[in-house]
Amino acid sequence: MSTTENRVEFSSKLGFILSAAGSAVGLGNIWKFPGKAYACGGGAFLIIYLIIVAVVGTSVMMAEFTIGRKTHKGAVGALRELNNKFAWIGGLGVLTGFIIVCYYCQVGGWAMYYIVAYITDVKTVWADPMAYFLGMLGANGFPVGALVWGFIFMLLTAIIISYGTAGIEKMSTILMPILFLVLVGLMIRSCTLPGADEGLAYMFNVDFSTINGTAILTALGQAFFSLSLGMGVMITYASYLSREDNLVSNTAIVCTLDTLVALFAGFMIIPAVFATGIAPGMGGAFGFATLAGVFMAIPGGQFIGMLFYFLLFFAAITSSTSILEGCVAFLVEEKGFERKKALVGCCVIMEIVGILYVLSQVYMNLKGIWISREGIQFPIFGDFLEYLTDRLLLPLGAFLTTFFVGWIWGPDNSIEEATGGGRNKFALAPAYKFIVKFVDPIAIGAIIVAGMVFGMAIS
Ligand code: ALA
Repeated sequence: MSTTENRVEFSSKLGFILSAAGSAVGLGNIWKFPGKAYACGGGAFLIIYLIIVAVVGTSVMMAEFTIGRKTHKGAVGALRELNNKFAWIGGLGVLTGFIIVCYYCQVGGWAMYYIVAYITDVKTVWADPMAYFLGMLGANGFPVGALVWGFIFMLLTAIIISYGTAGIEKMSTILMPILFLVLVGLMIRSCTLPGADEGLAYMFNVDFSTINGTAILTALGQAFFSLSLGMGVMITYASYLSREDNLVSNTAIVCTLDTLVALFAGFMIIPAVFATGIAPGMGGAFGFATLAGVFMAIPGGQFIGMLFYFLLFFAAITSSTSILEGCVAFLVEEKGFERKKALVGCCVIMEIVGILYVLSQVYMNLKGIWISREGIQFPIFGDFLEYLTDRLLLPLGAFLTTFFVGWIWGPDNSIEEATGGGRNKFALAPAYKFIVKFVDPIAIGAIIVAGMVFGMAIS
């Protein structure tokens, strides 16, 4: 990116696409998506997820892109410029992003922990992958390693932000295509492991009796998380674009890339679950313990495993920086904080919450300090954070954004911005208008209310 008239701009169209895709593609695709697809019934969940991305995800992304580029401002300033009374919708997105970064950086640290483990101690990882994963989280004592690497990840995120995001754009251009290729290679190997056919059958078996309100709300929250929607990020990124950039094709490309990566991750991990018999006790183990079975079965598995966790780390840091930048920009632009103070303040609070997140996974349960998963009265802290963001705040943010575009700012204004004043084609504009006005607010609103009324279980 370069800076002109106080606004940074992406140096090329590809730079924007890869940076936006870099923000979207992250732990959500590789760490969260396969676990949710597995827990919510496989094939039927995939179909629901694809429909939600195609209808709701793309329209919310388009809404955020047009708000950002129209105003050339961050989330709060953008909403305020379009209608003074609705700046708080942007604020809600920033708050959601803030909560996400708290635990995101810790999980990013786990990826770094595994890079080192694959270099120095792969035999121990492979001897009992699940025990190794739980050991990292505190099954054998205070989880010093996980906390140290979580802290390092947080620090790196902060350092990158303090230098601006130019480096991220360059790195994304090189590393995103490599990530894509490695995922495809691993997916092919996983699908050809002995016993993987059961996993493939699970993924292709469409049984809609597995779909209930919880599964739909899970798919909805997952789509927003994965596409980096409802966190102010895409509004901010689009604010760096010029009128010449084509928002219609950018929306289609970013949504497609992000969804492909999620699907590749699903088809990389779930067949391996069946082939290796490592059925995770917790969703988080999918990307760590289960994949060991794939790496063990590949020639050069140690190197490929290391490369995979490096790419996971990279995918995570391009996302964590984009979300943290939104929080810092808010404090600087809206609250008048000095940039350095805003950055340090955010990171200190995020790190404290992140430490609690890690300790609540295994260690506190073992010590009886935190309420255990058995006989749950209240979700343990880690689940609670993810529940709050994925099930409530992200859908709520998306609901409010589409309501704002559909009924306050007006879909015609959004379409005018999307087409750059008629310069670019937008064949689906009438559909977008209908979706953003009626389908999105009604569907997202109904799902949120149903989630609250029927008190959906936490998976
Ligand atoms: N969109 C980012 C991810 O999926 C936050 O990890």
